Amino acid sequence: MPTMDFEKGITLVASGPLSLRLRRGLILALGKKVELNEEIVIREGKSIPIEVIEDSSIDVKLGQNAFIEKFEGAIPSSWKNAIEEVLKHPPPIKVVVIGDVDSGKTTFSVYLSNIAHNRGFKVAIIDADPGQAEISLPNTIGYGLFKNGVISMDKIQLEEGFFIGSTTPSDAPIRMMIGTRKLMDKALLQKADIVVVNTCGWISGYRAREYKCALIQILSPNFLIAIQKENELEHIIRCCEPYGKILRITPSSASRVRSREERKNKREDAYSKYFANSRERIFDLNKVRIICNCYTYGRELPNSLIESLNKELSLSIIYGELYSNSLFLVVKEEPNNIEILRERFGVNDIILINEGSERGIIVGLMNDDKLVGLGLVSKIDYWNRRISIQTPYSGEVSHICIGQVKLNEELREILKYYRLPI
Ligand SMILES: Nc1ncnc2c1ncn2[C@@H]1O[C@H](COP(=O)(O)OP(=O)(O)O)[C@@H](O)[C@H]1O
Ligand SMILES: [Mg+2]
Repeated sequence: MPTMDFEKGITLVASGPLSLRLRRGLILALGKKVELNEEIVIREGKSIPIEVIEDSSIDVKLGQNAFIEKFEGAIPSSWKNAIEEVLKHPPPIKVVVIGDVDSGKTTFSVYLSNIAHNRGFKVAIIDADPGQAEISLPNTIGYGLFKNGVISMDKIQLEEGFFIGSTTPSDAPIRMMIGTRKLMDKALLQKADIVVVNTCGWISGYRAREYKCALIQILSPNFLIAIQKENELEHIIRCCEPYGKILRITPSSASRVRSREERKNKREDAYSKYFANSRERIFDLNKVRIICNCYTYGRELPNSLIESLNKELSLSIIYGELYSNSLFLVVKEEPNNIEILRERFGVNDIILINEGSERGIIVGLMNDDKLVGLGLVSKIDYWNRRISIQTPYSGEVSHICIGQVKLNEELREILKYYRLPI
């Protein structure tokens, strides 16, 4: 392991995969004070800024394409100024960090949290990005409390999560807002001096603006940190002026862009780890409710009606329910004469699912309004109201939230429904 010497006052960027060990001196890795001989590991695809506070010697083990080198401006001065202003405010301090994808929201959130932790603040961080969840699992948001400094958000222990049911906040903006606010309330109840909210990168278009403004209103932060290259956030932050002090900062020139594929791979690694020790559990839906979906909330179509419809219209319905304005149907094959059904039942909306295609849909397992685990549907016995779910969670479940993402046997994301599928 080669040893490298660095003089005090400079800033480095370490880009993984690499590991390093401080032999002499004092460094801050993403704001975290590194102990002598402590091993710091930086994964592939991640980079962090390192501030050399005193002349230091560091043992470095570099993986493929990894580097550690001097990088002036890895931490922009606007980051430091914003942090000083935030930490001057009397606690509890609520901070929301917004910015485009890969603008450095997560990096900044952890950096701010480390600095606050170093100064004795009790820090909570809410990870409100269900597509790149690090504290919790993909399709959920979550928060954790700082016990020690960390160089990566995935090292923070989850206190509590909230099920979103999608990796894309635009699929579920209301759940995103409710969940983030609930987690904020919990973090404040735990007497956090500062709560840092790391948001998703959905910023363009009027729907993103509506969502972000509503989120900011409902969180009423003391500070809104806007990481922007040019003026891509102005359409949002100008609407938010009444709800919190805005601090505009620039992205670090060390930030790097990740591909959609890289992001998806990261989520799939998280599924593989989480579901590794799953077993099948069967829930009786007369006792454990599934919520916010269609199935079990309508009036069952009698078998005799299904049989006559199938015969008359050459359909293959195996189960159905009727609502005030919609029809939920489980079919063997998709009908091509949906209009007739719409007219026949006087409904606007028909929710169709192919028999067996519920396999792989991600669900949130809840107990007493708390997210206690995730599961994957293996089968639904529609007539007998039984749902079979693969999950590593073995405790009590009071209700189940259906999600919009479907995984295959290899735990790869293969489909995202545009609304709740059942
Ligand atoms: N100040 C910085 N120094 C070094 N690397 C950075 C810095 N800011 C961001 N990065 C790198 O850029 C990438 C994107 O940053 P990230 O914080 O994950 O962005 P976001 O959360 O906005 O999507 C990551 O690989 C991260 O390690
Ligand atoms: Mg992020």
